[in-house]
Amino acid sequence: MNSKIAGVGYYVPEKIVTNNDLKQYMDTTDEWIQERTGIRERRYAEKHKETATTMATEAAIKAIDNAGISKEDIDFIIFATISPDYYFPGCGVLLQRELGITKSTIGALDVRNQCSGFVYALSVADKFVKTGTYKNILVVGSEMHSMGLDYSTRGRGVSVIFGDGAGAVIVQPTEDESKGILTTHLHSDGTFAEELALINPGCHGGYHDEDKEKYGFVSPEIPGEIFVTQAMIDNHLLYPYMNGQLVFKNAIVRFKEVIMEALETAQLKPEDLDMFIPHQANLRISQYIQKTMGLSDDQVYNNIQKYGNTTAASIPIALAEACGEGKVKEGDLVCLAAFGSGFTWGSALIRW
Ligand SMILES: CC(C)(COP(=O)(O)OP(=O)(O)OC[C@H]1O[C@@H](n2cnc3c(N)ncnc32)[C@H](O)[C@@H]1OP(=O)(O)O)[C@@H](O)C(=O)NCCC(=O)NCCS
Repeated sequence: MNSKIAGVGYYVPEKIVTNNDLKQYMDTTDEWIQERTGIRERRYAEKHKETATTMATEAAIKAIDNAGISKEDIDFIIFATISPDYYFPGCGVLLQRELGITKSTIGALDVRNQCSGFVYALSVADKFVKTGTYKNILVVGSEMHSMGLDYSTRGRGVSVIFGDGAGAVIVQPTEDESKGILTTHLHSDGTFAEELALINPGCHGGYHDEDKEKYGFVSPEIPGEIFVTQAMIDNHLLYPYMNGQLVFKNAIVRFKEVIMEALETAQLKPEDLDMFIPHQANLRISQYIQKTMGLSDDQVYNNIQKYGNTTAASIPIALAEACGEGKVKEGDLVCLAAFGSGFTWGSALIRW
C-alpha cells in the first residue's frame, strides 16, 4: 500500500502587517528586512478570536473538502505547532473538537518539531497509511507567532521574520505504486538546541546560582514558583532567541543534504524535480539552495514575501497555494524540505 496527499487547504489571517508597519514598535526598515529575508509583509491573527487551533480548523475544512471526504472520515489527526493554544493539552484534541469529530475512536498526535514539524508529521502519517493503520489522516501545521514575539528593538532580529497561518493535507492510501509519497527522511542534532529556542517558561531548572546567567533567574525556594518569574518578564526571557548566522550556515548545508538524500533514494536527480517547496525560512536560504542545486525559478515555490516564516505551517500553506495556482499537477515530482530549531531537518519526495 502506498500513501498519497489527497487534499490540501490553507488559511491565513486577514490582517496584513507590512515591514513599514513594524517601524512603530522597533528600529527597523523595509530595506533591511527585504534585503536580508525577502519578506515584504506577513499576516497576524486576530487576538482573542483566532488561535493556532482556529486557523488550523479553517485549513482542515478546505483540505477535507479538497479531498472529497467528510470530516467523519478522518481517522487520525497529526498537529504540528510551536505556538499552541495551551501548554497542554496539545492542539490535536482542540482541532478534533472544533471540527466536531467527537467520536472517541480516533487519535490525535501533537508534533513539536518547529520548522520541520510538518515534514515530521507527514512522515508519521505516511508510515501509518503504508502499514494499513489509518485511511484518512488529517495533517496540519499551524502557527500564531504574533502573540509571542519581542516587538522592541531588542527583538527585531527575530520578530520581523515570523508570521501567522495554517496549512493542512489529507493523507490516504493508494494502490498506485508509482504515485504518492515516495520517500521521507528525518534528521536531528541537538548540539545547538538553544541557538534557536524559546526556553522559558519551561521545567529546565535554573535551580542553582550558576544557572542565573544562563536562564536569567534562580529558582525560588517554594516549588512551583519557578515556572514564570518576574525576572523572566523583566529580562525579555519569554521570547524566542535565534543565532541567525549559525542557523543560516547550518540550514544551507542540511537542506541540500536532505533533498539529495530523498532524490538518491528514489534514484532521481535535481533536474527531475517539477517543484521544490522549501520551508519558508528565509528567501536568501531558498535562493542559495536553488542556485547550488541548479534549479530554475519554475522549479522552486516561494511565498515568504507575503507571509513571512510561518514555521510548521509554511510548507502546507505553500503546497496548497501552489496547487491552487496550478503549479503542482498530476504526475509532477514534488520535493518538500525543511530545517529549523533543534536542529531538526527532513524531506519528503512525492509523485503527485
Ligand atoms: C536573521 C538574519 C536575517 C540576520 O541577518 P544578519 O546579517 O545575520 O544580521 P545580524 O544579526 O548580524 O545583525 C546585523 C545588524 O543588523 C541589526 N538588525 C537586526 N535585526 C534588524 C532589523 N529587523 N532591522 C534593522 N536592523 C536589524 C543588528 O542589530 C545588527 O546591527 P549592528 O551591526 O549594529 O550590531 C540572518 O542571520 C538570517 O537570515 N538567518 C537565518 C535565520 C532563519 O532563517 N531563521 C528561520 C529559522 S528556520
